[in-house]
Amino acid sequence: MAPHLNIVPSMFVLLLLFISASKVQSDAFDVVAKFGAKADGKTDLSKPFLDAWKEACASVTPSTVVIPKGTYLLSKVNLEGPCKAPIEINVQGTIQAPADPSAFKDPNWVRFYSVENFKMFGGGIFDGQGSIAYEKNTCENREFRLTLCTNALIQDITSKDSKLFHINVFACKNITLERLKIEAPDESPNTDGIHMGKSEGVNIIASDIKTGDDCISIGDGTKNMVIKEITCGPGHGISIGSLGKFQNEEPVEGIKISNCTITNTSNGARIKTWPGEHGGAVSEIHFEDITMNNVSSPILIDQQYCPWNKCKKNEESKVKLSNISFKNIRGTSALPEAIKFICSGSSPCQNVELADIDIKHNGAEPATSQCLNVKPITSGKLNPIPCSGPVPKTPSAIRLKHTNKFNAIVINIFIHII
Ligand SMILES: *[C@@H]1O[C@H](CO)[C@@H](O)[C@H](O)[C@H]1NC(C)=O
Ligand SMILES: *[C@@H]1O[C@H](CO)[C@@H](O)[C@H](O)[C@H]1NC(C)=O
Ligand SMILES: *[C@@H]1O[C@H](CO)[C@@H](O)[C@H](O)[C@H]1NC(C)=O
Ligand SMILES: *[C@@H]1O[C@H](CO)[C@@H](O)[C@H](O)[C@H]1NC(C)=O
Ligand SMILES: *[C@@H]1O[C@H](CO)[C@@H](O)[C@H](O)[C@H]1NC(C)=O
Repeated sequence: MAPHLNIVPSMFVLLLLFISASKVQSDAFDVVAKFGAKADGKTDLSKPFLDAWKEACASVTPSTVVIPKGTYLLSKVNLEGPCKAPIEINVQGTIQAPADPSAFKDPNWVRFYSVENFKMFGGGIFDGQGSIAYEKNTCENREFRLTLCTNALIQDITSKDSKLFHINVFACKNITLERLKIEAPDESPNTDGIHMGKSEGVNIIASDIKTGDDCISIGDGTKNMVIKEITCGPGHGISIGSLGKFQNEEPVEGIKISNCTITNTSNGARIKTWPGEHGGAVSEIHFEDITMNNVSSPILIDQQYCPWNKCKKNEESKVKLSNISFKNIRGTSALPEAIKFICSGSSPCQNVELADIDIKHNGAEPATSQCLNVKPITSGKLNPIPCSGPVPKTPSAIRLKHTNKFNAIVINIFIHII
């Protein structure tokens, strides 16, 4: 501080500091004003964004990168930490990916890597311009990825037409995703809304997800996660898994999903593991207060998950499922099999609870419930009556239509990157 300021009354000094600090924050790292970005929809935002990030990240006081209103083209950006102080990105504009997926080989479109104490907000839109990729069904797809991030808040952001998973959270801790809007067409392949793996303390709150694949998918090593107030659909519902396909997968434990509305999706609350292959563990998964509207399979444990029939169909899953509950789940199903538990014969599901379930089939036949290798603990009013339906035989082929053809490829990309 300049010496002459010592004589000024302290309140005034504080006020001055406050004014100058907020001024610095609001314009110092504006990509248009300071870093030459153009909101013309064709000049690449990549360099201005990265330059602004680098300066903001090096700042020893909290800083904000601002992307003002307007439309920007962004080929890719890799935002790396750690930063010297907390950092924010205020995204007001619309950021578009190049429409042609073959233009870039890198699977990362927007990537945050090793950033702590970070916040992104502002009502902006990340537009993956996925329509060409969806048509070509190409593997050269890209996404919004957070890796090794800690203490982050992402709020009031829209992600539309991603070319792959919309948001991929990997090896992060204490991340809150709140009031997000995620949109992609019903038929778009692999456009999981939010996927996560090997992360702890991720919260997904008050968000609206419409997509072609899982609204939220939870991969191995996810712990202590809260999902609430989500509207999901169209899409494939909220899924734990798939698990058991790869070696050394870490347990999934402590996931609470509550107060969600799932509409017109192929699945609602689902846990899926591959038959045969590798072991793993899933425990303390609690679905509560969920409304299902015309969901094909509202409550589903599928330990014979077998997309495109490429699995060891005649083997039992080695993934152990325990302490799982479905409570206060109401609404309608599009297929009669409203509750389906297909557990492993070699490690049956343990402590699966059903309480206060009321699901009506949207059709002439009543809703049914099927069970294999599980004895659910029940309470409250239950419709359909648990395990009252026929025992499922080889269910693997049934869901072919809805399965995710390229899941394995996606996971491979994943492993390659780690
Ligand atoms: C979690 O992250 C938020 C920022 O999103 C931060 O305010 C909070 O202190 C963090 N919690 C812990 C336990 O570090
Ligand atoms: C459930 O979510 C709705 C918004 O989707 C919210 O208004 C309501 O307060 C939530 N209820 C609880 C018990 O969290
Ligand atoms: C569900 O899907 C049907 C047909 O695809 C459509 O007519 C209906 O409007 C959808 N319902 C909602 C609530 O989106
Ligand atoms: C329910 O979903 C099926 C497809 O899964 C669709 O054909 C049907 O129109 C939907 N019904 C309603 C009432 O939305
Ligand atoms: C399941 O819950 C029981 C008691 O409720 C507990 O003793 C056991 O450790 C739990 N199992 C797992 C794998 O969390």
